[in-house]
Amino acid sequence: MKLTVPDYILAIKAYIPGKPIEELEREYGIKDSIKLASNENPLGPSPMAVKAIQEAMSNLNRYPDDSGYALVKKISEKLDVRHDNIVIGNGSDEIIGMIVRAFLQPGDEAIVPHPTFLMYEIMIQCAGAISLRVPLKSLSIDLENIKEKLTPRVRLILLCSPNNPTGSAITKEDFETFIKDIPPDVVVVLDEAYMEFVRDKNCVSGIEYLDSDTPLIVLRTFSKAYGLAGLRIGYGVMPEEISNLLNRVRQPFNTSLLAQAGAVSALDDDSFLQKTINLVHEGIDLLYDALSEIGVKYFETQANFLLVDVGKSADDVYEKMLRQGVIVRSMTSYGYPSYIRVNVGLASENKRFIEALKKVI
Ligand SMILES: Cc1ncc(COP(=O)(O)O)c(C=O)c1O
Repeated sequence: MKLTVPDYILAIKAYIPGKPIEELEREYGIKDSIKLASNENPLGPSPMAVKAIQEAMSNLNRYPDDSGYALVKKISEKLDVRHDNIVIGNGSDEIIGMIVRAFLQPGDEAIVPHPTFLMYEIMIQCAGAISLRVPLKSLSIDLENIKEKLTPRVRLILLCSPNNPTGSAITKEDFETFIKDIPPDVVVVLDEAYMEFVRDKNCVSGIEYLDSDTPLIVLRTFSKAYGLAGLRIGYGVMPEEISNLLNRVRQPFNTSLLAQAGAVSALDDDSFLQKTINLVHEGIDLLYDALSEIGVKYFETQANFLLVDVGKSADDVYEKMLRQGVIVRSMTSYGYPSYIRVNVGLASENKRFIEALKKVI
């Protein structure tokens, strides 16, 4: 084989997801492990979504509805936006890919906070474009500094609120001041993957700022609060001018028939959503208390995960926690060599995390 590969592709460091339970048990020969590493829903999937998926299975000989009509209709009713404002994707990850394909060419620039969700930089690099990193300020996205970083080559700004991995969210006030100053040829993406968990009423919800003149895209997902990470379904809400462009670069039938059916019913499953939100809020409060009690520093969060400063090598703590059957995420590759990220689990899992952490540190 003699492959000719662009340098910018060779430079990509592949995304390393949270370790799957099966892999840990296979490698370490242990049982009953728990995973608190990918910000998933510990309650399982929405039961209404599961029922709808089972019912939809008899139609698997057919291609899905390419427009995702029923799902788009449901989202448009929930958010009070038009059908043309919505693009659905195989996870919100896929929509990030569409945005990058639509707006970036080699040599263009995109601004990303640092650290944030690692996929943004990987996607930007796939397009041969350049990420301009803006460091967080006290673990929060520094919108003032992002504005300062604008150059004529910047086409895209990617924001995450609440931010993964820090859990901090952008306030309405800060976002309003920011968006007013962004030139009309720069697309702003506001990734709201953890929106449903936000408790602080001052935090921004990008949907309120969508209008035909602002190049804003709001991303949402069914992978977290709705418990459908394995189904792969998410969506973006944006002005029609932008959705028209994303639909040009979108693969036909990009979301499966089962994913569309499951997501429609998940949006009707209010009791599951509420149960999830309650569990996450109770779990976060319990973790705050338990970490304070054992004298371990943590950072307040608006999401279903939080950062914990273990005060020593996070990689080491991660490894030792694995041996206790508890999978968390070391934040070394995010630039925080003494932090781990842990997501809320069931009450029993949260307790097990605290017990394991006590032993390890
Ligand atoms: C901030 C953020 N955006 C997007 C995603 C990807 O979500 P999806 O499963 O919809 O592709 C994640 C997943 O962890 C995330 O943390």
